[in-house]
Amino acid sequence: MGSPVFEAELPIVAAPMSGGASCPALVSAAAGAGAFGFLAAGYKSADAIAAEMAQLRAAGTSYGVNVFVPTTGQIGEEDFRRYAEELAGEGLPYGLDLAHAPRRDDEDDHWQAKIDLLLENPVPVVSFTFGLPAAEVVVALRGRGTRVLVTVTTVAEALLADQLGCDGLVVQGSAAGGHSGTFDPRRPMPRVSTEALVAEVVAATGLPVLAAGGVGGPAEVRALLAAGADAVAVGTLLLRSDESATTQVHKDALADPARTETVLTRAFTGRPARGLRNGFIDRHETTAPHGYPAIHYLTRELRTAAAAAGHPDRVHLWAGTGYRAARTGPAAEIVSELASGL
Ligand SMILES: Cc1cc2nc3c(=O)[nH]c(=O)nc-3n(C[C@H](O)[C@H](O)[C@H](O)COP(=O)(O)O)c2cc1C
Repeated sequence: MGSPVFEAELPIVAAPMSGGASCPALVSAAAGAGAFGFLAAGYKSADAIAAEMAQLRAAGTSYGVNVFVPTTGQIGEEDFRRYAEELAGEGLPYGLDLAHAPRRDDEDDHWQAKIDLLLENPVPVVSFTFGLPAAEVVVALRGRGTRVLVTVTTVAEALLADQLGCDGLVVQGSAAGGHSGTFDPRRPMPRVSTEALVAEVVAATGLPVLAAGGVGGPAEVRALLAAGADAVAVGTLLLRSDESATTQVHKDALADPARTETVLTRAFTGRPARGLRNGFIDRHETTAPHGYPAIHYLTRELRTAAAAAGHPDRVHLWAGTGYRAARTGPAAEIVSELASGL
């Protein structure tokens, strides 16, 4: 298709999903079906993402890489310690002493090493989330032939990204699974349909738009393209696919009829994200502070241990509102179904 930002047969994108789901196998499977896929560099070392990039390069697959823009200085010691003490009981079954965990509020997720890697090994597309990269980074990546996308959640953010000189926007509605890309994690998150936001952003900027959030089937894909999107990104719909490497506990929860809703929560990471409602959210949402990435690091081992033990009520079960349609099977089949009627 003639997307101005990437070469692919279909206007469908396998969205970046950190935490395992967006592995090279998923990106290759999506590409094999005519979509365009993203690797997720978030939470990985530069070496780990380099190894994934090398696999796709060796296979001749065209793909993009998604990077988290650092957010630091979000939480003070007192608020952090209060929440760490509140969570102490959650860690006990796994032998974790959360009350005395160190506060890691200045981690930048290996930002510079990842940018250096992407400058040394250019890929067709790099997308950013959680804010704006510095203008020099955009200029440098574009100088290597990489098209730069910025994730936005409001028209105001879209205008800032446009001023920065990026090549396109990932327009993320509040129905999206996982973290919101909002530039301001403390702002209240009103419900905004991806379709309405896409139409507003297209009118305001004219930039190519990749629409993301809440897709449950081909009708939503068609509606988002009709609203002006150049392509549509799906995350949640691919989480249970054969190639997705998210945890089994996450895959099973998505199919559990007892999980009847998704909610926006900051209880797990200190930054708003949409996931299946569970016990941890119910116990801590009202008292959870803002404070990404410190809260992410505080709960990370707990979530890993709970996932290994098969305890979904202490795992971040990221999911968009279309999660009921997420099914097992080859990702290529899921992509082809989404494209039906295009
Ligand atoms: C498990 C999971 C992990 C995600 N990780 C990232 C990420 O690392 N970077 C990013 O920009 N977006 C991330 N997202 C958001 C997706 O890229 C995309 O915007 C979202 O999945 C679209 O909404 P949908 O889930 O309703 O299809 C994640 C989403 C999920 C469900």
